Amino acid sequence: MDLKMKSLRIILDNQSETGAFVASPAFAHYRYSWLRDGTFIAYALDLYGEHEAARNFYQWVNRVVVSRGERIHNLLRRKSLGEEIPFADFLHTRYTLTGEEVNEPWGNFQLDGYGTWLWGLNEHLRLTGQSVEEYREAIYLSAEYLRAFWQLPNYDCWEENPEHVHTATLAAVAAGLKVAGNCLGEEVYIDKALEIRDYISIHGVREGHLVKFVKEDSLLVDSSLLWVSVPFGLWEVDSELIKNTVWKIEEDLLGGGLRRYVSDTYYGGGEWILLTAWLAWYYNLIGNDNKAEKLIEWIEEQSMDGELPEQVPGRDIDKNALLHWQEEWGPSASPLLWSHAMYLIALAGKTMITNIDNWGSRVKE
Ligand code: BGC
Repeated sequence: MDLKMKSLRIILDNQSETGAFVASPAFAHYRYSWLRDGTFIAYALDLYGEHEAARNFYQWVNRVVVSRGERIHNLLRRKSLGEEIPFADFLHTRYTLTGEEVNEPWGNFQLDGYGTWLWGLNEHLRLTGQSVEEYREAIYLSAEYLRAFWQLPNYDCWEENPEHVHTATLAAVAAGLKVAGNCLGEEVYIDKALEIRDYISIHGVREGHLVKFVKEDSLLVDSSLLWVSVPFGLWEVDSELIKNTVWKIEEDLLGGGLRRYVSDTYYGGGEWILLTAWLAWYYNLIGNDNKAEKLIEWIEEQSMDGELPEQVPGRDIDKNALLHWQEEWGPSASPLLWSHAMYLIALAGKTMITNIDNWGSRVKE
């Protein structure tokens, strides 16, 4: 079985009957379902015609969000009263496969997943021609939540740095709000999305490229900044801002594959399959097939018995940190469903990816 078929098999075999995807079936700490991982997994399935499985995931998220409707309204009420809300009270980033919250000492308050799922849902509806009707309530609740709290510091997509606001997170939030505005016909969400994009252009750009943290002096980049353009489309793939950002990401973080950020120590700060696939996705869209192919080949070389891990040690590995994590938690997660999904997306190439929405023309500059 080739890696494409094996990837689809691994993903489909690890979807729970509830519709949720386990992040990794063989890594205890990842036995949950994340909105972030799950959305890109569902997107990959949609690209390969597995619409039913993708739909089951979106319906699972639908239930997770709607069942927290009262909680969301309560958070909005507290905000309008000017209350300072503790992190513990916000919606979680990961759930058990049956949709319950997880009581582990992890960063739970992360906004990006709620924007990401809205983006993915829209792709799913677009690719299947299904109606938005059954999702209206969840879209509304997610959008109200994001519109109210987008400016708060929260954990980034790597579940770190809770004291910061992160450019990649803001991009996911903006993309989600834009989709919500279009689906529900509510201008107020679209205006907020455009406001966030403007905010990024003021506070999330240094020396001509995007930076990891907004409103900081740091020039640090993070590979997740690719998401700002692919797939969230706040700037086009061939805009100067994105080209400069990709240049800086490659300069600082590309070995054979892509690391998350320079001072990363999780499993020694290895090279991540899913981020390398992201860069290939970018090159697919910008029309540089050679670069995309080279990155895809690198990913294929990392598979072991058809399984893709989260990360592999690369040129800049911190050996002591790697050892520390291996002693703590065992080998790095493998197979990671999100890695397989991103490989599938990169492999689909530009032929199957048709909708990187162009925000440029809609934005008041
Ligand atoms: C990553 C998250 C991811 C989770 C499950 C964490 O280590 O930082 O981005 O959602 O693993 O794959």
